Amino acid sequence: MNPFIFENPTRLIFGEGQLKELPKQLAPYGKKVLLLYGGGSIKKNGIYDQVKGKLAEVDAIVTDFPDIESNPRISTVRRGVEICKQEGIDFLLAVGGGSVIDCTKAIAVGAKTEADMWDVITRKASYDGALPFGSILTHAATGSEMNRGCVITNWELHEKRGWGCPYTYGQFSILDPAFTTTVPRKQTALGIIDIMSHVMEHYFHLEKNTPIQDQWCESLLRTLIDVAPKLLDDLGNVQHRETVMLGGALALSDILNMGYRGDWGSHQLGHALSAVHDVSHGDSLAVVFPNWLAYVLSSETIGRLKQFAENVFAIDGKGKSDRQIAEAGIQALRQFWTDLGAPATLSDLSINAADIQTLAENTVQFTAEFGNFKKLSREDAHKIFEMSL
Ligand code: NZQ
Ligand code: ZN
Repeated sequence: MNPFIFENPTRLIFGEGQLKELPKQLAPYGKKVLLLYGGGSIKKNGIYDQVKGKLAEVDAIVTDFPDIESNPRISTVRRGVEICKQEGIDFLLAVGGGSVIDCTKAIAVGAKTEADMWDVITRKASYDGALPFGSILTHAATGSEMNRGCVITNWELHEKRGWGCPYTYGQFSILDPAFTTTVPRKQTALGIIDIMSHVMEHYFHLEKNTPIQDQWCESLLRTLIDVAPKLLDDLGNVQHRETVMLGGALALSDILNMGYRGDWGSHQLGHALSAVHDVSHGDSLAVVFPNWLAYVLSSETIGRLKQFAENVFAIDGKGKSDRQIAEAGIQALRQFWTDLGAPATLSDLSINAADIQTLAENTVQFTAEFGNFKKLSREDAHKIFEMSL
């Protein structure tokens, strides 16, 4: 493995009832709080009222910032930045899934600079710090609660960009698995697919001597494969929710990838689907990831795919060639996700052959090559989308 420095400054507060910690966590900051959330789920399930109650305990002066969309947009970030500046906001509190947290991160940085946040995210302008922020997670998926990444879409330009800086780590994240029991079945499944994809993006690499990291990844994947169907049959089961929530936070917190860099090509292909067709993140990965695996299977990568098939999906190699074992692993992944109710093809997302050229171009609009396990080009993206039809 390569030398590395690991640092993750976000304080993780995990477990049922842990919203009670919120007043203590807010104590170091000023009273003016911007409360950010999505399209209203937190009002329906009562989390909004519970959070407002805790904010009242510290006499917070609260400004609401509702209606953050899935695949959050730069126009929403700009609106949030304006409010922070106008109202003199001291602290940002995100209550929601990855979209709300990502949008909050970008607003927090935007509030401290005169530059337009799209220029910052596209690395044309620099940043000058950020307002402090914290998160209350309501949907296990992205890992945004414990990393510095944020993914923002410029819908006018059809660009979806991932970005982060040392200021985009939250001060704290409160993870109460009971807050996720109202996430609908389909969304729950897509969250698990995103978590598995993060683990697999790490796992598919060519670095040598990563046995500890490999087994972290494999055991996390096996655990999710075991618990996912049980949870989908029993959405209110807090113990299964707890398992998935911890898995989500670990999967993208830079712990699993200590000492090496994973692939991330499937995420780049998936972001093109969201940027052009506003496909949800989980849907995009469900379609693209198995096809990416099938495409990159070669003499150079076969060892890793075979290991994945045997150690994650317990494929029995007896009487099979290495290639057959690897292919059986890919098929097992595809089948597992389909059984969870995820889409398997682009046509399931109403995307057809005529759209592929644009999608391939969108994939490589920032870099001519993408992916690390296997370096890919626009032509490769085109072929993977074709395989996904
Ligand atoms: O908007 P509301 O009404 O809250 O409903 C949301 C939304 O419709 C709903 N939901 C959330 N909590 C709920 C709930 N419904 C009922 N009960 C609850 N407790 O779930 C829907 C999806 O929410 P969203 O936040 O959009 O999903 P997710 O967490 O999957 O976030 C997706 C975004 O994160 C980015 C994706 O690209 C996408 O833009 N990602 C961020 C990453 C990061 N920051 O590290 C990495 C990921 O790979 C990903 O790219
Ligand atoms: Zn993801």
